[in-house]
Amino acid sequence: MTSPVASETLEGTDESKARPAPPCAMVIFGATGDLTKRKLMPALYNLVADGLLPDEFAVVGIGRSPLSEEDFRRRMEEDLRHFATVEVDDARIGWLLQRLRYVAGDLEDPETFHRLGEALTKADAELGTAGNYLYYLAVPPNLFCDYVHRLGEAGLTREEEGRWRRVIIEKPFGHDLDSARKLNRDIREVLGEKQIYRIDHYLGKETVQNIMAFRFGNGIFEPIWNRRYVDHVQITVAETVGVEGRGAYYEEAGALRDMVQNHMFQLLALTAMEPPVSFAADTVRDERVKVLSAIRPFTPEDVLRLTVRGQYGEGMIEGKRDGEHVPAYRAEKSVSPTSNTETFAALELFVDNWRWADVPFYLRTGKRLPKRATEIAIQFKRAPLMLFRDTPVERLSPNLLVLHIQPDEGISLRFEGKVPGPQVRLGTVRMHFEYADYFGAQPHTGYETLLYDCMIGDSTLFHRSDMVEAGWLVVTPILDVWQALAPRNFPNYAAGTWGPKEAEELIQKDGRKWRG
Ligand code: BG6
Repeated sequence: MTSPVASETLEGTDESKARPAPPCAMVIFGATGDLTKRKLMPALYNLVADGLLPDEFAVVGIGRSPLSEEDFRRRMEEDLRHFATVEVDDARIGWLLQRLRYVAGDLEDPETFHRLGEALTKADAELGTAGNYLYYLAVPPNLFCDYVHRLGEAGLTREEEGRWRRVIIEKPFGHDLDSARKLNRDIREVLGEKQIYRIDHYLGKETVQNIMAFRFGNGIFEPIWNRRYVDHVQITVAETVGVEGRGAYYEEAGALRDMVQNHMFQLLALTAMEPPVSFAADTVRDERVKVLSAIRPFTPEDVLRLTVRGQYGEGMIEGKRDGEHVPAYRAEKSVSPTSNTETFAALELFVDNWRWADVPFYLRTGKRLPKRATEIAIQFKRAPLMLFRDTPVERLSPNLLVLHIQPDEGISLRFEGKVPGPQVRLGTVRMHFEYADYFGAQPHTGYETLLYDCMIGDSTLFHRSDMVEAGWLVVTPILDVWQALAPRNFPNYAAGTWGPKEAEELIQKDGRKWRG
């Protein structure tokens, strides 16, 4: 995240433009996998198009397939033309392909890392990448630690004479508090915290970064952003997709680990954090971690009262003309027919600090819900008085501010207005800002900023070890209770509906309701 600049004052000057990253080589472990072709290569292409990669740049792919460098390039080119988010230009793609290298080998073979070292030294000599290396671990999570250790043993993580060595680690980072702590300890035997970039692709989304700009770049919202004015906050991440062939992974994860502990807690942290004193990475991260540490711990009774889990059965989702019939979770590939894994989770939590004490935060996420929508809704307290004769105060709609994260990125504010006519009657109206109208569509993958930030050494948008652990500290007691008490009614919602009825009850018990 480059420091914010005001476009109105700096537009057209050099100061408003980000500079290309410093010379470096990016090493991708898992180079023939899905992430590389769907996200990483298209993101690198977009960085080329935006002029943010230096001339002294290389990509070294590592994979188990015994490909020649030419084969690898051909494959990357085909994939890139297929998955690019913008129209591909021959000169730009050529620029990138020229800088691609490939090393075949696997983790078990120490020769792999020896060959990688040689390929990097060669790239330094041929392309001027200056010994700065970014390693991207697009590999299964149980291998993160082994890769880091192999890199260390091969001397490839040592930072000397101003050269940097950084490692991007994908999610999931651990599967509970103990495993996350252990993973942090194990990788820190090799790397310093400053070399570790734990990625969360939600933080790469423009609209997620906009939460801070919206809160701290404007004077009018912050004074009312607290327990005195806010009634409650709802954070929803709804997906229409199922597990999409990732059944084996999802069986071990479930919605709480897959979405809540990481992505949703980051949305919560950005919404609830105190203004940082600067945009320095650790200053911002300190504030985010404070929010997670202030979440009231769940006792086993709280888990029963304040959390809900669900699993989808078969049903109809929005699709072709008349909707599409989709199978139950238990009928998905690589999923047990008696699986107890949750595909939906809802919770009510409290951030016990002076700003938020007693303000409920309701979080819900699920697969196979009726529509794709990620949003943060801040509902304000009702107007206190009945000044309008025919409108009892309880019928006034409270003000609602919604940050629409995706799709249809934007911000809307709901308030009351007078219905035209001789009588004074109120009607609810909405003021709406759409990103695309003002700034144009941003056909990006979400990985561009994160890769660029790692290259320039800005870790603001990455998880720090304490942040990961704070997240696990909150969800582990929930996982423990869920593990001990098998769900009795799975599947408990039909695909294409808004989750189990208990999720409605969770919020209705407080006299509130989910946004539709
Ligand atoms: C991933 C989860 O981290 O995020 C997936 O593992 C989920 O299960 C995905 O579908 C959602 O990301 P997005 O960017 O489509 O909202």
